[in-house]
Amino acid sequence: MDVFHITGPVQLKGTVKVNGSKNAALPIMAAAILAEGISELNNVPNLSDISVCAELLETLGCKVTRDGNDQVTVDSSVIDNPVGDYEIVRKMRASICILGPLLARCGKARVSMPGGCAIGYRPVDIHLMGLHELGAEIKIENGYIVAEAPKGLIGREIFLGGPFGSTVLGTANVLMAATLAKGITVIESAACEPEITDLVQCLKKMGAKIKGTGSPRLVIKGVRSLKPFEYSVIPDRIEAGTFMAAATITSGELKIENCRLEDLMAVVDKLRNIGVIVEKYNGGCVVSRTGALKTSQITTQPYPGFPTDLQAQFMALLSLAEGNSIIIEKIFPDRFMHVAELNRMAANLYKEGSTIIVSGVKKLIAAPVMASDLRASAALVLAAMAAAGTSTINRVYHIDRGYERIEERLNPVGAKITRENI
Ligand code: EPZ
Repeated sequence: MDVFHITGPVQLKGTVKVNGSKNAALPIMAAAILAEGISELNNVPNLSDISVCAELLETLGCKVTRDGNDQVTVDSSVIDNPVGDYEIVRKMRASICILGPLLARCGKARVSMPGGCAIGYRPVDIHLMGLHELGAEIKIENGYIVAEAPKGLIGREIFLGGPFGSTVLGTANVLMAATLAKGITVIESAACEPEITDLVQCLKKMGAKIKGTGSPRLVIKGVRSLKPFEYSVIPDRIEAGTFMAAATITSGELKIENCRLEDLMAVVDKLRNIGVIVEKYNGGCVVSRTGALKTSQITTQPYPGFPTDLQAQFMALLSLAEGNSIIIEKIFPDRFMHVAELNRMAANLYKEGSTIIVSGVKKLIAAPVMASDLRASAALVLAAMAAAGTSTINRVYHIDRGYERIEERLNPVGAKITRENI
């Protein structure tokens, strides 16, 4: 198991390049199931989640290869085992998004229920409701979702909104199933995240008939078959936002390449409100901060609201603002594993339900801390770069799930991160 030793305070200065989006690549890799043949996906980050997804596709009968450093090829000519095995699904919740494509391609699927998660309770009831609306018979047996559609799927009008708003992977599952259903499907309260828009664009390249791209109302006209795709995923907006926070928390200046500011308007708005300079240039932006950080109020919401996947990183940032900030988590009310760890680094965070009062402190102090979920871990890296002294972050595998060799990308711009295998 790897740990990070991170020494601070440092000032990050230089250029970083954003990788392709993990959360766009995962559902698009699942979309390869919908068409027989060889699909090619480019700009795919080299992450453990991508490897788990490749392993899962291979258990279905696909052949998956990684060519070069960012290309994944999926040969889905044969799918003879429509089963998502627990041993794989438990490693990555996003495995759930093979369910819709398998139902559409094979008429049946047996996929393990995803297990628990560090960021809180994550049901899949809306996924199952949506697929049931399309005509699938669904039951839970021995921890597995057993779904069948012997007569094929039939288009319906479906409301996919839940108590926390839209569902990203729930939209992906129902959308992919609907592309091969008979007739018209309307998905009301569809997720509008850029990763879903990327999936829609890829499905349309495969021959799917989809209207309402980027809107909460998707209208899909089922077709008899789809063809394999050659596609390149969008840049990872959460990685870009994490780099923006890194430049800010270290009072540095980073040129962030391959960054689509239009995907991060809520984040850029918050950064500018707290005194950060964000300058757009063709293909990216430059983020810098010299003066004191102002306080802010952040409520996480479905896109285009402030993303829950940047909540932890901005909590680290606001820990050094002058005064009290408020962070309200509306998507995953328990997504606060990082609070106790940041307090170990001398942050002053008070939790009341799904609200955190962030009382700014003059400085953070290095400490041994524990990574928990992907984004909480990134927040600890940010805090450690700003803290005085050397911090140790345990369970670095959480970070490796969503950030490719992050130390090799931050050290060249001034970070002092060493990875140790213990
Ligand atoms: C996706 O997860 C992302 N993962 C998450 O990123 C992200 O935090 C999340 O969307 C929200 O933006 C991937 O894309 C692989 P949801 P997903 O369904 O689709 C509730 C990361 O760090 N809900 O949009 O699983 C759910 O509990 C990861 O990269 C139901 O109630 O999230 C939550 O409160 C972490 N029933 C809300 O909806 C359901 O059937 C939004 O969840 C499904 C969801």
